[in-house]
Amino acid sequence: MSEAGSLVIKGGRVVDAAGERDADVIVVDGLIAAVGPGLSADRTLDAGGCIVGPGLVDLHSHLREPGKEEAETIASGARGAALGGYTAVLAMPNTTPAMDSAAVVRQVVEIGRTAPCDVYASGAITVGRNGEQLAPMAEMAALGVRIFTDDGAGVQDNGLMRRAMEYASGLGVTLAQHCEDDALCGGGHMHEGEWSARLGIPGQPAEAEELMVMRDIALARLTGCRIHFQHLSTARSVEMVRTAIASGLAVSAEATPHHFTLTHAECQSYDPIFKVNPPLRTAQDVAAVKAGLADGTIAVIATDHAPHTPETKELPFDQAPPGMLGLETALALALTELGLPIQQVLGALSWRPAEIIGVGGTHGSVAVGRAANLCVIDPEVTWTVDGAAMASRSANTPFQGRELRGKVRHTVLHGEPVVIDGQAQR
Ligand code: DOR
Repeated sequence: MSEAGSLVIKGGRVVDAAGERDADVIVVDGLIAAVGPGLSADRTLDAGGCIVGPGLVDLHSHLREPGKEEAETIASGARGAALGGYTAVLAMPNTTPAMDSAAVVRQVVEIGRTAPCDVYASGAITVGRNGEQLAPMAEMAALGVRIFTDDGAGVQDNGLMRRAMEYASGLGVTLAQHCEDDALCGGGHMHEGEWSARLGIPGQPAEAEELMVMRDIALARLTGCRIHFQHLSTARSVEMVRTAIASGLAVSAEATPHHFTLTHAECQSYDPIFKVNPPLRTAQDVAAVKAGLADGTIAVIATDHAPHTPETKELPFDQAPPGMLGLETALALALTELGLPIQQVLGALSWRPAEIIGVGGTHGSVAVGRAANLCVIDPEVTWTVDGAAMASRSANTPFQGRELRGKVRHTVLHGEPVVIDGQAQR
């Protein structure tokens, strides 16, 4: 078979929710036209020895535009995303101005149209993300926003959160929560525990996250609202989510690569590269997050890609902003650290997040007739992380110099190769 303008991804092992099989994939006019053995087309992308999966979908990208373009732009973040195997990212709303109105959402989506991955906007729950007054969620939902969050901060006021949930259920959208109780976190810069005590750095207790997880599960029960917990970091948070899901509540959760890889002991260097919210926790918490990913309690791996310029990230620990790069390392960290079957890893990075933001029609599948949003992964190749070599405008990776296994060879967005042999095409 050979059709004009067609592309074949040849010689790989196709993995998606339907299973695994050795097959070539033909792409025509932005769609998957055939999946099977012995196919050919006008152009060929070599996938020998590789996994051919659906493009990855990130539920948690800080793209910094508008407002902090010196740290990242939608274009630079999306280029990093494509290099990391992503064909879709959800932009977080803590921009300047915040994504709390139709105007800013429209601006982000408009700029995203020419980016090398699909850019979806989240909307803020409250005006200016300051936790006082509900944002005009309906006008943002009318533009296609499916997730609302004040990420960077949690909604502190119980009554306001209840109203937000009632409003969200009426609109059929999902609320995503950054779980941190400000009163308990106040002045803390790392996890409160053995290392914060030794280092003399004020800490944030695990309970600051857990109280908000507990409250939002209670409010989800009260209102029937769908709630998604962002970047879960403690063992008890994971356990509460496990129980909530078992009781039938519409609850989902994500974990970041840094929370399943690093502990608070990293902070002993006093290097703010390890400063992040929620903070790196204990080895027991890391084990619980991994167990949550293994048993599906945590359905999603999300990056919390949070670029910061060297000028800010090199300030002393207590003055530096929290956050770490993630888009170009997430897949390799998952493959290197989790020891899970490839299908489960791809589920957590692709089709499960696609379902949560309602883009399962265009992302998360390698089936005939679906949009050709694909990533081709060499699962065996090893490489060394280098922040300076990343597409991001920032370089704040806590994994600098670490050897990882698994790398994206090609990424295809709506039928167009945007990464070929590890090189961004635009
Ligand atoms: O470490 C973090 N950085 N956590 C957040 O929630 C926000 C993010 C950022 O925007 O830099």
